[in-house]
Amino acid sequence: MITTTGLTKVYPSRGREVTALDGVDLHVREGEVYGVIGQSGAGKSSLIRCVNLLERPTAGTVTVDGQDLTALAGRGRRAGKELRQARSRIGMVFQHFNLLSSRTVQDNVELPLEILGVSGQERSRKALELLDLVGLADKARAYPAQLSGGQKQRVGIARALAGDPKVLLSDEATSALDPETTRSILQLLRDLNRQLGLTVLLITHEMDVVKTICDSAALMKKGRIVESGTVSELLATPGSELAQELFPVGGQASGPGRTVIDVTFHGEAATQPVISQLSRTYNIDISILGAAMDTVAGKQIGRMRIELPGRYEENVVPVGFLREQGLQVEVVDGPANVPAQTAAALVKEGAK
Ligand SMILES: Nc1ncnc2c1ncn2[C@@H]1O[C@H](COP(=O)(O)OP(=O)(O)OP(=O)(O)O)[C@@H](O)[C@H]1O
Ligand SMILES: [Mg+2]
Repeated sequence: MITTTGLTKVYPSRGREVTALDGVDLHVREGEVYGVIGQSGAGKSSLIRCVNLLERPTAGTVTVDGQDLTALAGRGRRAGKELRQARSRIGMVFQHFNLLSSRTVQDNVELPLEILGVSGQERSRKALELLDLVGLADKARAYPAQLSGGQKQRVGIARALAGDPKVLLSDEATSALDPETTRSILQLLRDLNRQLGLTVLLITHEMDVVKTICDSAALMKKGRIVESGTVSELLATPGSELAQELFPVGGQASGPGRTVIDVTFHGEAATQPVISQLSRTYNIDISILGAAMDTVAGKQIGRMRIELPGRYEENVVPVGFLREQGLQVEVVDGPANVPAQTAAALVKEGAK
């Protein structure tokens, strides 16, 4: 639904250049909620502003719903009109709502429809329908100053939906809101995503937002996407920074010469007594250092950090057993990234 290839943005800045985006390849599938997370200055806002061409990319392409927007940008009047039309099908929600204080709630929602040349009666009908959809039917005649932050953001969302967009872009839509209001706005975005089949690309610096509503996520650093995938793919990727932050488990080894591993349980595996089977099969004592169950992307997932006696090389077989049970196993201490073959070779060496 949204694809960028080699997206690059360089800002001129007091004689030198700032590379805000450095070759970003992003792929957001139709109907998903996709979160981009990263620290301040990572390039998140630049990315979202380039996706709807509010900002002209320095290089690379942006395709939304099959249309190459970069090809339309700055190519004569006809292409300009097509670009405006394409952009009207991309809704945008902002951190600070960007409502006009002199206009009523309803008139704020009607604004994009006025720009599209929709007639007065139709505008009014559509605005009231959208306000109803976001739960603000009774506030149509109020002014923004009379609303709470959460209500203002609901107006912002209703306005973003005025052009019947297929895609909604959100730049830190909940960053100015308290935790409870944040939850209700995220729930609204999730509902809209489901009810309208709306594809949502959201930018955030809060991992909780990703955890609550995202199907997929990407981690941005210094203008690049360093990790991306569906949330379950990420959780299944050894060493994934996003996975570790989405689902942290703590706990330190109780002493030297022990193997600490993180075991992730998805779905069915969560109900199998694998840890006691492991203990019985290999006659080893297992200590649980940390554990958590949580719902990520609507699925129940468990994570456990356990400790086995002996170094990693002595535990290759039990670790293999856990993997055979369909569990995702990551070695925390020691050679976390030693490929299975090398580990097997190490064991053979030890046996000689
Ligand atoms: N208009 C601009 N002119 C010059 N430099 C800019 C401009 N906009 C952004 N930058 C720079 O580009 C880099 C990325 O900025 P961007 O706003 O995309 O980051 P961000 O990830 O959204 O950060 P935040 O979480 O603080 O909103 C930063 O170094 C920033 O200073
Ligand atoms: Mg930003």
